[in-house]
Amino acid sequence: MNYTFETMGLVLLTFAALLGAGFAYDSLFAAHMWVAFIVLLISTVFMLRHIKFAPAAVSATSSANSQSEYFDEVVRYGVIATVFWGVVGFLVGVIVALQLAWPELNFGPWFNFGRLRPVHTSGVIFAFGGNALIATSLYVVQRTCRARLFGGSLGWFVFWGYNFFIVMAASGYVLGITQAREYAEPEWYVDIWLTIVWVAYLVVFLGTILKRKEPHIYVANWFYLAFIVTIAMLHIVNNLAIPVSFLGVKSYSAFSGVQDALTQWWYGHNAVGFFLTAGFLGMMYYFVPKQANRPVYSYRLSIIHFWALIFMYIWAGPHHLHYTALPDWAQTLGMVFSIMLWMPSWGGMINGLMTLSGAWDKLRTDPIIRMMVMAIAFYGMSTFEGPMMSIKTVNSLSHYTEWTIGHVHSGALGWVGMITFGAIYYLTPKLWHRDRLYSMRLVNWHFWLATLGIVVYAAVLWVAGIQQGLMWREYDSQGFLVYSFAETVKAMFPYYVMRAIGGGLYLAGGLIMAYNVWMTILGHEREEAPIGGATLPPTLQPAE
Ligand code: HEM
Ligand code: HEM
Repeated sequence: MNYTFETMGLVLLTFAALLGAGFAYDSLFAAHMWVAFIVLLISTVFMLRHIKFAPAAVSATSSANSQSEYFDEVVRYGVIATVFWGVVGFLVGVIVALQLAWPELNFGPWFNFGRLRPVHTSGVIFAFGGNALIATSLYVVQRTCRARLFGGSLGWFVFWGYNFFIVMAASGYVLGITQAREYAEPEWYVDIWLTIVWVAYLVVFLGTILKRKEPHIYVANWFYLAFIVTIAMLHIVNNLAIPVSFLGVKSYSAFSGVQDALTQWWYGHNAVGFFLTAGFLGMMYYFVPKQANRPVYSYRLSIIHFWALIFMYIWAGPHHLHYTALPDWAQTLGMVFSIMLWMPSWGGMINGLMTLSGAWDKLRTDPIIRMMVMAIAFYGMSTFEGPMMSIKTVNSLSHYTEWTIGHVHSGALGWVGMITFGAIYYLTPKLWHRDRLYSMRLVNWHFWLATLGIVVYAAVLWVAGIQQGLMWREYDSQGFLVYSFAETVKAMFPYYVMRAIGGGLYLAGGLIMAYNVWMTILGHEREEAPIGGATLPPTLQPAE
C-alpha cells in the first residue's frame, strides 16, 4: 500500500514537535518535545524508505486483493508489542520491588521509585494490557463479524498512535512530568493525543461491527465495545484540566477537593472495571471456547454477566475513599455496589470455567488451557477479595497496606496476565500460519513459573498487609501507639524481598514466552515429547 498521506501527516507532526521544542514555555516541555521529535523523525525516515512508487494499476490490483482478506498485519504487530511491553513492564515491576526492599537502588532523579512506579503501572496496564486488548479486539471483531477491519490504514494509526502515546507517557514520567492522578499521570497534551487515537479506535471497531456480514453481534464484541466507550468517557472527564501555557507541561485540574478525589476514583475504579476486566472478559469469551473447542457454557448467562457488570461497576468507585471527606452515604453506596458486583463477576467466572465441561481432560495435555483456567480462577479470587475489602470495617484494616497491593496483583498477574498469555499462545501460530507453537513444553514452564510467582507474590503480601494494619492500630494500656511508623516499615523488609523473588519468577516466565513466540514466528518447531502422555508411544500400550 502507498502511505503518501500518512507520511505527510507524520512529517507535519514531526515539524510541530520541533516547533514545540523551540518555543517551549518551560524546559521540561522542551525536553519532552525533543523526545517526540526524535521518535517521529525516525518513524518518518522509516516511512519514506517504505513508500512504494509502483504504477497505479499494480497498486490497485494488490489493494483489491488485500481488501478481500482480514487485516491481520496490524494484529501481528500488536502481538509483538504486547510481548515486548510485557517483558519491559514486568522488569520495571521487579526493579521497583527491589527498590522498596533496598532503597539504595534509587538512582535519582530519573530512576527514583516515584518516577519508575508509574512507568511500571502504565507499562503493564496500558502498554502490555492495552496492546493485548487492541490486538485481540481487532482480531476477534473481524472473525466474529466476518468482515475486514473498517477504515483501511486507520488501524495502523491506532496501533502506532497508541504506542507513541506510551513512549510519551513513559518518557514523561522519567523526566518528572506528571499530573499526579493515579493511572492517568500523563499531562494534558499527551491526554489529547490519546483521545484522538482512542476515537480512531472506536471508529475502526464500531465501523467493522456496522459492516458485519454476520447478523448476530457476538458477546465478546459487547465487552470490547463497553471497554472502548467507557474508557473514552472516563479518560475525558478525569483529565479535564486547564494548562498554564499551551507550550508548557503544567496544568490544573477542573475539579478540586473531594470532588476531585471522587472523579479520580470514579476513573481509577472503572479503569479496573472496564480496562482490566471488561476488555479481558471479551478475550475470555472468544479465546477460551476456541482453545477448548467447545461453545460458551451459557450464552444467556454471558448476556446477564455483561449488563449486570457494566451497570454495577460504574457505581463502586467510592470504596477507594472510605473514611475520607467523601459524604458517608456515597461511601456506603460504593460499598453496597461493590458487594453486589460479586454476583455478576462469579456468574462470568462460572460461565468461563463451565465452558470446559466435557473438555476437562485437556487440562492434562494443553498448558494453554491450563493458563486460561488459572486466569479465570484468579478472576474469581480477586472478585471475591475485592467486595470483601470494600466492606468498611475490613477496609479500615486493609487500606494503605500491602494487602491492597496483593489484591491488585492477584487480579493483574493472575487474571490479566494469564488470560493474555493464553490468547498470545493461541494467536501466534494462527497469525504467522505455523502448524503449532515452537514448544508446548516451554508454555508449560511459563505456566508453572508464572503460577508460582503469583502465589508467592499474593500470599506474601496478604501476610505483610495484615501484619502492617495490625501494627498500625496496636495500642498499649495507656492508649499510646505501640509501634512507630518506621518500625512498621522495617518489618516489611522480608516480605519485600520475597515479593521481588515472586516477581522474578513471573518475569522469567515472560522471557520464556518471548523466546517461544519469537521462535514460532521464525518458523521453528522444537522436537519434544507431548505433554501428559497425549499420545503414548505404541510400545507402551498395555494391550500390546
Ligand atoms: C513481575 C511482575 C510484577 C512485579 C514484581 C510488580 C511489582 C510492583 C510493585 C513493587 C509495585 C508498587 C507497590 C507499592 O507502591 O507499594 C506495583 C504496583 C502496581 N502494579 Fe505491579 N508488579 C508486577 C506485575 C504487574 C502486572 C502484570 C500488572 C497489571 C497488569 C501490575 C499492576 C500494578 C498496579 C496497578 C500497581 C499499583 C497498585 C496500587 O497503587 O495500589 N503489576 N507493582
Ligand atoms: C468485584 C470486583 C472487585 C471489587 C469490588 C474490588 C474492590 C477493591 C477494593 C475495595 C480495593 C481497595 C481500595 C482501597 O482500600 O484503597 C481495590 C483496589 C484495587 N483493585 Fe480491586 N476489586 C475488584 C476486582 C479487581 C480486579 C479483577 C482487579 C485487577 C484486574 C482489581 C484491581 C485493583 C487495583 C489496581 C486496586 C488498587 C487501586 C489503588 O489504590 O491504586 N480489582 N479493589
